[in-house]
Amino acid sequence: MIRVLGIETSCDETAASVVALDDASARPEILSPRILSNVILSQVEEHAAFGGVVPEIAARAHVEALDGIVEAALEDAGVTLADVDAIAATAGPGLVGGLIVGLMTAKAIAAAAGKPLIAVNHLEGHALTARLTDGLEFPYLLLLVSGGHTQIVRVAGVGDYRRWATTIDDALGEAFDKVAKMLALPYPGGPNVEKAAARGDPARFAFPRPMKGSAQPDFSFSGLKTAVRQAATAIAPLSEQDVADICASFQAAVADALADRVERALLRFRAGYPDKMEPALVVAGGVAANRAIHETLERLCADNGFRFVAPPHRLCTDNAAMIAWAGIERLNANMAETGAFDFVPRSRW
Ligand code: KG4
Ligand code: ZN
Repeated sequence: MIRVLGIETSCDETAASVVALDDASARPEILSPRILSNVILSQVEEHAAFGGVVPEIAARAHVEALDGIVEAALEDAGVTLADVDAIAATAGPGLVGGLIVGLMTAKAIAAAAGKPLIAVNHLEGHALTARLTDGLEFPYLLLLVSGGHTQIVRVAGVGDYRRWATTIDDALGEAFDKVAKMLALPYPGGPNVEKAAARGDPARFAFPRPMKGSAQPDFSFSGLKTAVRQAATAIAPLSEQDVADICASFQAAVADALADRVERALLRFRAGYPDKMEPALVVAGGVAANRAIHETLERLCADNGFRFVAPPHRLCTDNAAMIAWAGIERLNANMAETGAFDFVPRSRW
Protein backbone atom coordinates (compact mmCIF):
# COMPACT_ATOMS: atom_id res chain seq x y z
CA MET A 1 0.00 0.00 0.00
CA ILE A 2 1.08 3.56 -0.76
CA ARG A 3 -0.15 6.46 1.34
CA VAL A 4 0.49 10.05 0.34
CA LEU A 5 -0.24 13.26 2.22
CA GLY A 6 -1.35 16.01 -0.17
CA ILE A 7 -1.30 19.77 0.41
CA GLU A 8 -3.12 22.40 -1.70
CA THR A 9 -2.78 26.17 -1.21
CA SER A 10 -2.70 27.62 -4.73
CA CYS A 11 -5.79 29.81 -4.45
CA ASP A 12 -8.28 30.43 -1.64
CA GLU A 13 -8.68 26.91 -0.24
CA THR A 14 -6.34 25.60 2.43
CA ALA A 15 -6.52 21.84 2.04
CA ALA A 16 -4.80 18.63 3.13
CA SER A 17 -5.67 15.00 2.45
CA VAL A 18 -4.35 11.48 2.78
CA VAL A 19 -4.99 9.08 -0.11
CA ALA A 20 -4.06 5.39 -0.12
CA LEU A 21 -3.59 2.96 -2.97
CA ASP A 22 -3.73 -0.77 -2.29
CA ASP A 23 -1.70 -3.37 -4.13
CA ALA A 24 -0.71 -1.14 -6.98
CA SER A 25 2.12 -3.42 -8.05
CA ALA A 26 0.02 -6.59 -8.16
CA ARG A 27 -2.44 -5.39 -10.80
CA PRO A 28 -1.37 -1.96 -12.01
CA GLU A 29 -4.22 -1.78 -14.53
CA ILE A 30 -6.82 -1.92 -11.76
CA LEU A 31 -6.44 1.00 -9.39
CA SER A 32 -8.23 0.92 -6.05
CA PRO A 33 -7.52 4.20 -4.36
CA ARG A 34 -9.14 5.27 -1.12
CA ILE A 35 -9.47 8.79 0.19
CA LEU A 36 -8.66 8.43 3.88
CA SER A 37 -9.25 12.11 4.62
CA ASN A 38 -10.06 15.28 2.73
CA VAL A 39 -9.97 18.49 4.77
CA ILE A 40 -10.76 21.80 3.07
CA LEU A 41 -10.95 25.23 4.63
CA SER A 42 -12.46 27.76 2.25
CA GLN A 43 -11.54 31.42 2.65
CA VAL A 44 -14.68 32.63 0.86
CA GLU A 45 -15.72 34.78 3.81
CA GLU A 46 -12.33 36.49 4.09
CA HIS A 47 -12.57 37.59 0.44
CA ALA A 48 -16.31 38.22 0.05
CA ALA A 49 -16.11 41.86 1.12
CA PHE A 50 -13.65 42.51 -1.74
CA GLY A 51 -15.67 40.68 -4.40
CA GLY A 52 -12.77 38.40 -5.28
CA VAL A 53 -9.65 36.67 -3.97
CA VAL A 54 -7.10 39.08 -2.47
CA PRO A 55 -3.66 37.38 -2.78
CA GLU A 56 -2.14 38.93 0.35
CA ILE A 57 -5.12 37.96 2.51
CA ALA A 58 -5.07 34.46 1.00
CA ALA A 59 -1.38 33.94 1.80
CA ARG A 60 -1.80 35.05 5.41
CA ALA A 61 -4.86 32.86 5.86
CA HIS A 62 -2.90 29.85 4.52
CA VAL A 63 -0.10 30.52 7.02
CA GLU A 64 -2.57 30.61 9.88
CA ALA A 65 -4.58 27.56 8.87
CA LEU A 66 -2.25 25.08 7.20
CA ASP A 67 -0.62 23.39 10.23
CA GLY A 68 -4.01 22.66 11.79
CA ILE A 69 -5.44 21.44 8.47
CA VAL A 70 -2.53 19.00 7.98
CA GLU A 71 -2.97 17.70 11.53
CA ALA A 72 -6.69 17.26 10.94
CA ALA A 73 -6.06 15.38 7.68
CA LEU A 74 -3.68 12.96 9.39
CA GLU A 75 -6.04 12.50 12.33
CA ASP A 76 -9.12 11.92 10.11
CA ALA A 77 -7.12 9.33 8.18
CA GLY A 78 -6.06 7.63 11.41
CA VAL A 79 -2.37 7.82 10.50
CA THR A 80 0.75 9.61 11.64
CA LEU A 81 3.48 11.11 9.50
CA ALA A 82 5.47 7.91 10.00
CA ASP A 83 2.76 6.01 8.09
CA VAL A 84 2.82 8.11 4.93
CA ASP A 85 5.15 7.26 2.06
CA ALA A 86 5.52 10.73 0.61
CA ILE A 87 4.32 14.34 0.82
CA ALA A 88 2.83 15.89 -2.33
CA ALA A 89 2.23 19.62 -2.54
CA THR A 90 0.91 21.96 -5.20
CA ALA A 91 3.95 23.85 -6.53
CA GLY A 92 2.07 25.87 -9.18
CA PRO A 93 0.39 27.41 -11.03
CA GLY A 94 -1.46 29.75 -8.71
CA LEU A 95 -1.04 32.72 -6.37
CA VAL A 96 2.62 32.72 -5.43
CA GLY A 97 2.08 33.62 -1.76
CA GLY A 98 -0.10 30.59 -1.17
CA LEU A 99 2.21 28.32 -3.19
CA ILE A 100 5.17 29.38 -1.06
CA VAL A 101 3.27 28.60 2.15
CA GLY A 102 2.16 25.17 0.95
CA LEU A 103 5.40 24.06 -0.67
CA MET A 104 7.63 25.31 2.17
CA THR A 105 5.43 23.60 4.74
CA ALA A 106 5.58 20.39 2.70
CA LYS A 107 9.37 20.65 2.43
CA ALA A 108 9.67 21.14 6.19
CA ILE A 109 7.39 18.18 6.96
CA ALA A 110 9.15 15.94 4.43
CA ALA A 111 12.61 16.91 5.69
CA ALA A 112 11.68 16.43 9.35
CA ALA A 113 9.96 13.09 8.74
CA GLY A 114 12.57 11.85 6.27
CA LYS A 115 10.00 11.35 3.49
CA PRO A 116 10.18 12.07 -0.24
CA LEU A 117 8.61 15.29 -1.48
CA ILE A 118 6.63 15.50 -4.73
CA ALA A 119 6.04 18.87 -6.38
CA VAL A 120 2.67 18.65 -8.13
CA ASN A 121 1.25 20.81 -10.89
CA HIS A 122 -2.24 21.88 -9.78
CA LEU A 123 -3.66 21.26 -13.26
CA GLU A 124 -2.30 17.72 -13.23
CA GLY A 125 -4.29 17.24 -10.02
CA HIS A 126 -7.49 18.25 -11.84
CA ALA A 127 -6.53 16.18 -14.89
CA LEU A 128 -6.06 12.92 -12.96
CA THR A 129 -9.01 13.22 -10.54
CA ALA A 130 -11.30 11.10 -12.72
CA ARG A 131 -8.93 8.15 -12.22
CA LEU A 132 -9.26 8.57 -8.47
CA THR A 133 -13.05 8.86 -8.50
CA ASP A 134 -14.07 6.75 -11.50
CA GLY A 135 -11.06 4.57 -12.24
CA LEU A 136 -10.95 6.00 -15.73
CA GLU A 137 -8.36 4.60 -18.15
CA PHE A 138 -6.21 6.71 -20.47
CA PRO A 139 -6.79 8.41 -22.82
CA TYR A 140 -9.73 10.68 -22.08
CA LEU A 141 -10.79 14.23 -22.76
CA LEU A 142 -10.93 16.78 -19.95
CA LEU A 143 -12.90 20.01 -19.83
CA LEU A 144 -11.60 22.14 -16.97
CA VAL A 145 -13.82 25.13 -16.21
CA SER A 146 -12.92 26.99 -13.03
CA GLY A 147 -12.29 30.51 -11.79
CA GLY A 148 -8.78 30.49 -13.22
CA HIS A 149 -8.92 28.02 -16.10
CA THR A 150 -10.96 27.16 -19.16
CA GLN A 151 -9.24 24.39 -21.04
CA ILE A 152 -9.83 21.27 -23.07
CA VAL A 153 -7.04 18.78 -22.50
CA ARG A 154 -6.37 15.36 -23.99
CA VAL A 155 -5.10 13.28 -21.07
CA ALA A 156 -3.13 10.33 -22.45
CA GLY A 157 -1.07 9.29 -19.44
CA VAL A 158 0.67 10.58 -16.35
CA GLY A 159 2.58 13.62 -17.58
CA ASP A 160 1.12 13.24 -21.07
CA TYR A 161 -1.27 16.18 -21.49
CA ARG A 162 -2.12 17.99 -24.71
CA ARG A 163 -3.98 21.24 -24.38
CA TRP A 164 -6.39 21.49 -27.30
CA ALA A 165 -8.14 24.69 -26.33
CA THR A 166 -7.85 27.49 -23.82
CA THR A 167 -9.46 30.87 -23.26
CA ILE A 168 -8.06 33.83 -25.12
CA ASP A 169 -9.39 36.23 -22.46
CA ASP A 170 -11.48 35.49 -19.32
CA ALA A 171 -11.82 32.12 -17.62
CA LEU A 172 -15.44 30.98 -17.56
CA GLY A 173 -15.77 31.12 -13.76
CA GLU A 174 -14.25 34.60 -13.88
CA ALA A 175 -16.92 35.64 -16.44
CA PHE A 176 -19.64 34.34 -14.08
CA ASP A 177 -18.06 36.25 -11.19
CA LYS A 178 -17.80 39.48 -13.19
CA VAL A 179 -21.38 39.26 -14.44
CA ALA A 180 -22.51 38.72 -10.84
CA LYS A 181 -20.59 41.82 -9.77
CA MET A 182 -22.18 43.92 -12.55
CA LEU A 183 -25.60 42.83 -11.33
CA ALA A 184 -24.70 43.43 -7.67
CA LEU A 185 -25.07 39.74 -6.82
CA PRO A 186 -22.89 38.54 -3.92
CA TYR A 187 -19.50 36.78 -4.26
CA PRO A 188 -18.81 34.05 -5.30
CA GLY A 189 -20.77 34.91 -8.39
CA GLY A 190 -21.30 31.60 -10.18
CA PRO A 191 -23.79 29.98 -7.80
CA ASN A 192 -25.69 33.26 -7.41
CA VAL A 193 -25.98 33.78 -11.16
CA GLU A 194 -27.31 30.24 -11.45
CA LYS A 195 -29.82 30.82 -8.67
CA ALA A 196 -31.11 34.05 -10.27
CA ALA A 197 -31.18 32.40 -13.73
CA ALA A 198 -33.64 29.79 -12.46
CA ARG A 199 -36.32 32.52 -12.26
CA GLY A 200 -35.35 34.22 -15.52
CA ASP A 201 -36.21 34.11 -19.22
CA PRO A 202 -33.24 32.77 -21.23
CA ALA A 203 -34.74 34.16 -24.47
CA ARG A 204 -35.16 37.79 -23.38
CA PHE A 205 -31.63 38.87 -24.36
CA ALA A 206 -29.92 37.55 -27.49
CA PHE A 207 -26.37 37.57 -26.17
CA PRO A 208 -23.52 36.57 -28.51
CA ARG A 209 -22.22 32.96 -28.56
CA PRO A 210 -18.49 33.71 -28.70
CA MET A 211 -16.43 31.65 -31.17
CA LYS A 212 -19.45 29.58 -32.20
CA GLY A 213 -18.68 27.96 -35.53
CA SER A 214 -15.10 29.22 -35.51
CA ALA A 215 -12.43 26.84 -36.82
CA GLN A 216 -10.12 28.05 -34.08
CA PRO A 217 -10.54 25.72 -31.07
CA ASP A 218 -10.26 28.31 -28.28
CA PHE A 219 -12.76 29.93 -25.92
CA SER A 220 -13.51 33.62 -25.44
CA PHE A 221 -15.85 35.26 -22.95
CA SER A 222 -14.97 38.95 -22.82
CA GLY A 223 -17.31 39.92 -25.69
CA LEU A 224 -20.19 38.17 -24.00
CA LYS A 225 -19.35 39.92 -20.75
CA THR A 226 -19.37 43.29 -22.55
CA ALA A 227 -22.75 42.51 -24.13
CA VAL A 228 -24.13 41.76 -20.67
CA ARG A 229 -22.78 45.03 -19.34
CA GLN A 230 -24.32 47.00 -22.21
CA ALA A 231 -27.71 45.33 -21.73
CA ALA A 232 -27.62 45.99 -17.99
CA THR A 233 -26.64 49.64 -18.48
CA ALA A 234 -29.33 50.19 -21.11
CA ILE A 235 -32.19 49.12 -18.85
CA ALA A 236 -30.86 50.33 -15.47
CA PRO A 237 -32.16 50.58 -12.77
CA LEU A 238 -32.60 46.82 -12.83
CA SER A 239 -35.58 45.10 -11.31
CA GLU A 240 -35.18 41.68 -9.76
CA GLN A 241 -36.81 40.19 -12.88
CA ASP A 242 -34.35 42.06 -15.15
CA VAL A 243 -31.44 40.56 -13.19
CA ALA A 244 -32.97 37.08 -13.44
CA ASP A 245 -33.53 37.46 -17.20
CA ILE A 246 -29.97 38.68 -17.78
CA CYS A 247 -28.57 35.76 -15.77
CA ALA A 248 -30.72 33.22 -17.62
CA SER A 249 -29.81 34.69 -21.02
CA PHE A 250 -26.10 34.81 -20.08
CA GLN A 251 -26.14 31.22 -18.89
CA ALA A 252 -27.88 30.07 -22.06
CA ALA A 253 -25.25 31.84 -24.19
CA VAL A 254 -22.44 30.25 -22.16
CA ALA A 255 -23.92 26.74 -22.42
CA ASP A 256 -24.38 27.17 -26.16
CA ALA A 257 -20.87 28.50 -26.75
CA LEU A 258 -19.36 25.81 -24.56
CA ALA A 259 -21.24 23.05 -26.37
CA ASP A 260 -19.94 24.27 -29.72
CA ARG A 261 -16.32 24.30 -28.53
CA VAL A 262 -16.57 20.95 -26.76
CA GLU A 263 -18.27 19.24 -29.69
CA ARG A 264 -15.34 20.15 -31.94
CA ALA A 265 -13.02 18.51 -29.42
CA LEU A 266 -15.21 15.39 -29.11
CA LEU A 267 -15.10 14.90 -32.87
CA ARG A 268 -11.34 15.37 -32.91
CA PHE A 269 -10.86 12.95 -30.02
CA ARG A 270 -13.18 10.38 -31.59
CA ALA A 271 -11.18 10.49 -34.82
CA GLY A 272 -8.13 9.09 -33.07
CA TYR A 273 -9.99 6.54 -30.91
CA PRO A 274 -10.90 2.86 -31.48
CA ASP A 275 -14.37 2.70 -33.07
CA LYS A 276 -15.82 0.06 -30.81
CA MET A 277 -14.80 1.66 -27.54
CA GLU A 278 -16.67 4.38 -25.70
CA PRO A 279 -14.51 7.46 -25.22
CA ALA A 280 -15.01 9.64 -22.14
CA LEU A 281 -15.33 13.34 -21.42
CA VAL A 282 -14.51 14.45 -17.88
CA VAL A 283 -15.67 17.82 -16.58
CA ALA A 284 -13.91 19.45 -13.65
CA GLY A 285 -13.72 22.83 -11.95
CA GLY A 286 -16.22 24.92 -10.02
CA VAL A 287 -18.32 25.84 -13.07
CA ALA A 288 -19.07 22.14 -13.63
CA ALA A 289 -21.43 22.48 -10.64
CA ASN A 290 -23.77 24.54 -12.84
CA ARG A 291 -26.85 22.42 -13.66
CA ALA A 292 -27.59 24.03 -17.03
CA ILE A 293 -23.99 23.55 -18.17
CA HIS A 294 -23.85 20.05 -16.73
CA GLU A 295 -27.03 19.03 -18.58
CA THR A 296 -25.90 20.58 -21.85
CA LEU A 297 -22.63 18.67 -21.74
CA GLU A 298 -24.32 15.46 -20.69
CA ARG A 299 -26.66 15.68 -23.71
CA LEU A 300 -23.75 16.50 -26.00
CA CYS A 301 -21.91 13.41 -24.82
CA ALA A 302 -24.96 11.19 -25.29
CA ASP A 303 -25.42 12.53 -28.84
CA ASN A 304 -21.78 11.86 -29.68
CA GLY A 305 -21.38 8.45 -28.04
CA PHE A 306 -19.19 9.68 -25.20
CA ARG A 307 -19.33 8.59 -21.60
CA PHE A 308 -19.88 11.66 -19.42
CA VAL A 309 -17.86 11.70 -16.21
CA ALA A 310 -18.44 14.39 -13.59
CA PRO A 311 -16.53 13.70 -10.36
CA PRO A 312 -18.31 14.79 -7.15
CA HIS A 313 -18.27 18.56 -6.67
CA ARG A 314 -15.98 18.34 -3.62
CA LEU A 315 -13.32 16.58 -5.70
CA CYS A 316 -13.58 18.58 -8.90
CA THR A 317 -13.16 21.95 -7.21
CA ASP A 318 -9.87 22.71 -5.47
CA ASN A 319 -8.93 20.07 -2.91
CA ALA A 320 -5.87 18.20 -1.66
CA ALA A 321 -7.05 14.65 -2.41
CA MET A 322 -6.37 15.32 -6.09
CA ILE A 323 -2.86 16.50 -5.19
CA ALA A 324 -2.17 13.42 -3.04
CA TRP A 325 -3.53 11.28 -5.88
CA ALA A 326 -1.32 12.99 -8.48
CA GLY A 327 1.58 12.21 -6.12
CA ILE A 328 0.61 8.53 -6.07
CA GLU A 329 0.25 8.45 -9.85
CA ARG A 330 3.71 9.99 -10.20
CA LEU A 331 5.23 7.51 -7.74
CA ASN A 332 3.58 4.62 -9.61
CA ALA A 333 4.83 5.86 -12.95
CA ASN A 334 8.33 6.45 -11.53
CA MET A 335 7.86 10.08 -12.43
CA ALA A 336 8.09 11.68 -9.01
CA GLU A 337 10.08 14.89 -9.21
CA THR A 338 13.66 14.31 -8.09
CA GLY A 339 15.20 17.33 -6.45
CA ALA A 340 11.81 18.52 -5.26
CA PHE A 341 13.49 20.09 -2.22
CA ASP A 342 15.06 22.62 -4.59
CA PHE A 343 11.79 23.22 -6.41
CA VAL A 344 10.79 26.88 -6.47
CA PRO A 345 7.01 27.63 -6.60
CA ARG A 346 5.86 28.63 -10.08
CA SER A 347 2.96 31.06 -10.28
CA ARG A 348 2.78 30.23 -14.01
CA TRP A 349 3.49 26.65 -15.08
O1 KG4 B 1 -12.69 25.17 -9.22
P1 KG4 B 1 -13.03 26.33 -8.37
O2 KG4 B 1 -13.71 26.07 -7.05
O3 KG4 B 1 -11.77 27.18 -8.04
C1 KG4 B 1 -10.82 27.58 -8.97
O4 KG4 B 1 -11.05 28.61 -9.63
O5 KG4 B 1 -9.79 26.88 -9.09
O6 KG4 B 1 -13.96 27.29 -9.26
C2 KG4 B 1 -14.50 28.47 -8.76
C3 KG4 B 1 -15.29 29.13 -9.86
C4 KG4 B 1 -15.79 30.51 -9.48
O7 KG4 B 1 -15.50 31.40 -10.53
C5 KG4 B 1 -17.28 30.31 -9.29
O8 KG4 B 1 -18.04 31.46 -9.56
C6 KG4 B 1 -17.56 29.20 -10.29
O9 KG4 B 1 -16.44 28.35 -10.20
N1 KG4 B 1 -18.79 28.48 -9.95
C7 KG4 B 1 -19.89 28.45 -10.74
C8 KG4 B 1 -20.87 27.70 -10.02
N2 KG4 B 1 -20.32 27.30 -8.83
C9 KG4 B 1 -19.04 27.77 -8.82
N3 KG4 B 1 -20.15 28.98 -11.93
C10 KG4 B 1 -21.36 28.78 -12.46
N4 KG4 B 1 -22.36 28.09 -11.84
C11 KG4 B 1 -22.16 27.54 -10.62
N5 KG4 B 1 -23.13 26.88 -10.01
ZN1 ZN C 1 -8.25 24.44 -9.48
